[in-house]
Amino acid sequence: MTNGTPPSASSELPMDLGDAELNRRIAEGMGSVEAELRERLSVGEEFITDKVTHLVKAGGKRFRPLVALLCSEFGANPGAPKVVKGAVIAEMVHLATLYHDDVMDEADKRRGVDSANHRWGNTVAILAGDILFAHASRIMSEIDTETVRHFADTFAQLVTGQMRETVGPRGADPVEHYLKVIEEKTGVLIASSGYLGARLSGAEDAVVRHCEAIGGAIGMVFQIVDDIIDIFSTTAESGKVPGTDLREGVFTLPVLYALREDSPAAEELRGLLTGPLERDEDVARALELIARTKGREHALNDVHRYLSLATWHLDALPDIPANQALRQLCRYTVERVG
Ligand code: IPE
Ligand code: IPE
Ligand code: MG
Ligand code: MG
Repeated sequence: MTNGTPPSASSELPMDLGDAELNRRIAEGMGSVEAELRERLSVGEEFITDKVTHLVKAGGKRFRPLVALLCSEFGANPGAPKVVKGAVIAEMVHLATLYHDDVMDEADKRRGVDSANHRWGNTVAILAGDILFAHASRIMSEIDTETVRHFADTFAQLVTGQMRETVGPRGADPVEHYLKVIEEKTGVLIASSGYLGARLSGAEDAVVRHCEAIGGAIGMVFQIVDDIIDIFSTTAESGKVPGTDLREGVFTLPVLYALREDSPAAEELRGLLTGPLERDEDVARALELIARTKGREHALNDVHRYLSLATWHLDALPDIPANQALRQLCRYTVERVG
């Protein structure tokens, strides 16, 4: 799976799911998701559609639709039109959060291109995110009220996570605060993708709950890995600028563990990170110091804890090809950091 190439409506899958028939079905489903996503987002005035399709065309892994389609395999109607709609909703909501997140994080790059805020300013980026929520809400209303209710909760948690990150730990344990934030801002939407995929395919309640939990655990892995990448990768590798979180004064898991350490590197880091880092050379120095600590290793231990949780739920589900594919997706998510 690459980050920079936009999937096309007839695309082959970016990864082998280990079963020819499953590969075919999921590729077809992803093609339908892509087609519906683009069709829906091209409705409206041109001065809006060009902004909302900016990031869709730029690339993205379509990770949430993939989780939804894989989880739909546990129900009676894998890849049914309702499942595709659920997957489109998940990607639209995700996209909306990216537009808004880049405003909050003052990020210049997204999916290897200029972020919307960098290109058109904050006002336009915020409105582009808003119209994505409008499109997503319309699709929810076409499914059922349970989907609308589910997304009301999902939105609320997403916003709570972004807000919790913004207000900071306020006396709470920083690692626990971080884990709560990422559960809300990232885990919840991937959990939601698993939930929707399974439910809209007609899976029974217990199965839907396992799929939701699997998505949530994969989401935790995904975000911790993403935060490791923010510190340890180049723009060419990630499509984003390294140290973005640090610049904004957001201390992610590897940093939090690094700060706890009793070592000369950690000591210097604590001195440096008394507030947001404004000078490029301070960011570079901080990244260098973090690399000398065990921050990365400790963060990876947590990654493995969430992987075990995902595996526990996968063990409770039938051993169909999609079950193996979800295990592979877990491995893939971790392989991004080696
Ligand atoms: C980025 O998500 C935001 C996080 C939750 C880490 P993705 O890494 O799924 O972004 P795209 O969709 O591939 O661009
Ligand atoms: C990701 O937030 C979660 C959402 C977009 C809701 P981050 O700020 O950690 O993600 P990146 O690093 O910008 O992709
Ligand atoms: Mg961000
Ligand atoms: Mg952010």
